[in-house]
Amino acid sequence: MASPLLRSARCREHLLIPNLHRISVHLTHHQQTLPLPRPNISIKKNHPLIRSFHQSSQKMSSPNAIPHPLLMIPGPIEFTDEVLQANAHPSMSHVGAPFINVFGESLEMLRKVFLTSDPASQPLVLSGSGTLGWDIVAANLIEPGEEALVLHTGYFADGFAECIETYGGKATQLQAPIGGRPTLEQIEKALKEKKFKVITITHVDTSTGVLSDPRTVCELVQRVSPETLVVVDGVCSVGAEDLEFDKWGVDVALTASQKAIGVPPGLSIVMLGKRAVQAFENRKAKPASFFASLKKWIPIMKAYESRKPAYFATPAVQLIYALNASLKQILQTSMQERFAKHKAASKKVKDFVKAMGLEQVPNKPEESANTMTAVKLPDGIAPTDLLPKLAARDIVFAGGLLPQVKYFRVGHMGVTATDEQRGDLTKALEGLKAALAECGYEGAKH
Ligand SMILES: Cc1ncc(COP(=O)(O)O)c(C=O)c1O
Repeated sequence: MASPLLRSARCREHLLIPNLHRISVHLTHHQQTLPLPRPNISIKKNHPLIRSFHQSSQKMSSPNAIPHPLLMIPGPIEFTDEVLQANAHPSMSHVGAPFINVFGESLEMLRKVFLTSDPASQPLVLSGSGTLGWDIVAANLIEPGEEALVLHTGYFADGFAECIETYGGKATQLQAPIGGRPTLEQIEKALKEKKFKVITITHVDTSTGVLSDPRTVCELVQRVSPETLVVVDGVCSVGAEDLEFDKWGVDVALTASQKAIGVPPGLSIVMLGKRAVQAFENRKAKPASFFASLKKWIPIMKAYESRKPAYFATPAVQLIYALNASLKQILQTSMQERFAKHKAASKKVKDFVKAMGLEQVPNKPEESANTMTAVKLPDGIAPTDLLPKLAARDIVFAGGLLPQVKYFRVGHMGVTATDEQRGDLTKALEGLKAALAECGYEGAKH
């Protein structure tokens, strides 16, 4: 029996679909019968009308041709022409069949990106950013007074812990020195001291560039505290770092559109495993949020995936078109191939900065992210010296987030890492060397 929500949505479907059908028939007819705009041959070639026609059609086919600085911060990233064009999709009904199809197909593709084939896994795409993923976990999977173990590898663990406490959970942070990550021994000891409802891992902490190892943490949790849910904050990793949802036994992985998923900011993307869905269903307290409630969203996502319209809150229609375009591009190769490309791009950046004598924030190469590089600045050079010199070369890097270290961050995710023909890495690294030389850094002068 359909829920009242779905029933009411289906009533709307009856109202809307016939109209939509008429609209699409009308559009097709319109396109067939209206003459295409043709330049009048009596107008000279460089007439402003002709120039603007050519300029606008060039802009439409290649939004990246619009001059803009190369964005190499750890998100948002550079987007492909196809994604930017999809993001400019004309307005569509959010409960009409064409859009529901695109949404449903995107959810199916997300399963492939997260590497889950378990039908009990539940993808969610909500209007919001990565932070909303924290709220979804904290408001639905942790009941007031329940414990969460937060593995701290930088700034973003503090945020997740604060979010958990906002909804009444108790967060214990397991700290590591800057540039490091908690050891398996420390995690095992902590898991044996208390019963934790969830353990959170920041796969890549974007403030430090430290890469965690969710696979070994999953193995440890399964051995020591199997009822604890493993939650991976994959905002700076999903779609680029090796993450095998089913194989490793991850219970929740969350991300955002603007990083390795390659879509403009505005979507919160979450994959729930079977155990996470069950934990929510067995919850005694009501979900502690209205907008982030899984009670509201799971039926909506299930409806989209079975191509039925449903409504709880208006989705970001154009961003979903962009997501669909990006996921199609991502899935043109295997995820393993994509992970390998990100590793190769990362190595190129890391080898380059090392050759100039610069150190990185992560203490060990094997604990360094492949999606970004956090580079310590030489004595006497501040981010405020370097970043404007890069900007003058049309290159945007990010400053550091931790006040204790003087460093800058380079993002190399998505098309910048996978499409060598764009030349993004070469431009960025040459620009970095020239900017550092201009700052007076000897290591960049030969
Ligand atoms: C690891 C990590 N988690 C969470 C967030 C928060 O995501 P958002 O800024 O999309 O809300 C970020 C943002 O950069 C992040 O890097």
